[in-house]
Amino acid sequence: RIFTLPSNAKKNTLVKRPPRKGVIIGAGQVGLACSYSLLIQNTLDELVLVDINQEKLEGEVMDLLHGSPFIEPTVIKAGSLADGIGDNADVVIITAGSKRLPGENRLNLMQRNTELFKKLIPEVVRHCPDAILLIVTNPVDIMTYISLKLSNLPSTSVIGSGTILDTARFRYLLAEKLQIDPRSLHAYIIGEHGDSEVPVWSKVNISGMHLCEGGLEECTTAEQEFLHQIFKQVKNAGHEIIKRKGATSYAIGLGVNDIVKAILRDQNRVLTVSSLVEDFYGIKDVCLSLPTIINRYGIGRKVNFTLIETELQQLKHSSEVLHYAISQLKL
Ligand code: 2OP
Repeated sequence: RIFTLPSNAKKNTLVKRPPRKGVIIGAGQVGLACSYSLLIQNTLDELVLVDINQEKLEGEVMDLLHGSPFIEPTVIKAGSLADGIGDNADVVIITAGSKRLPGENRLNLMQRNTELFKKLIPEVVRHCPDAILLIVTNPVDIMTYISLKLSNLPSTSVIGSGTILDTARFRYLLAEKLQIDPRSLHAYIIGEHGDSEVPVWSKVNISGMHLCEGGLEECTTAEQEFLHQIFKQVKNAGHEIIKRKGATSYAIGLGVNDIVKAILRDQNRVLTVSSLVEDFYGIKDVCLSLPTIINRYGIGRKVNFTLIETELQQLKHSSEVLHYAISQLKL
């Protein structure tokens, strides 16, 4: 015999730590990139994948499972929430939704994804009542706000991936130009994940040394132009990638893994994620990104983040863009 079964007596006295369980709804390119990042970094004990295309989902899960001998173990399951496979989930990551159709306007896309969420979110809450929701579907700030309303969960339990990716792109591009490891360069993109997002130039720093503490205005015209081009690249990055390969996936997968890790390991990590703003310089009742502490509660404390006047005006504009979009939706 290779194994001896543990005795029943012993089994009854032992308390087993519950597995760290994550559900991903939507196994498209983004959902799969999230799965891959979560698997190879061993963030979860159990990963559940849900998608409407069952056959493709089966194929994807087989492919992922065949990598098991190369990584730390994670149980992978696929199916539907109605089968109970999502029960006791710690985190539910939602990537399901439509992409913008050719010629379709933003409002149409928002309304289509809202219709999907009206069915999906109550179902998620019914099956995974204690889970923290992590919304990735675009337009992410709007979908986060809608998920909060539809779920009736506390605002600490509903997080949007927000500008985590824009912040990563900003840090990567600046670090590349300044020839520094992006992990040693601190910089934030806040506000909407979209056209009205705001680069916080006054806070860009390497080991506490600021690039332009008083804002871009204190740089020379040539420097301003140089930095403006970097931000333009950040803002257009999603569009440029989609033009070439149809979707963005790897970087958001890594970003989602960072958020999930911060939650499950109670890291108190500061990340620019989207969540309900209750009162920030008068901005309220909207989900947008600000540097936020992420821990086992989901959204932890808000960082007391200060902005200079020009940045504040841009953030207010961003919040107005989002308020307007929400006011156009039929909920
Ligand atoms: C991105 O910025 C499209 O939201 C996606 O990569």
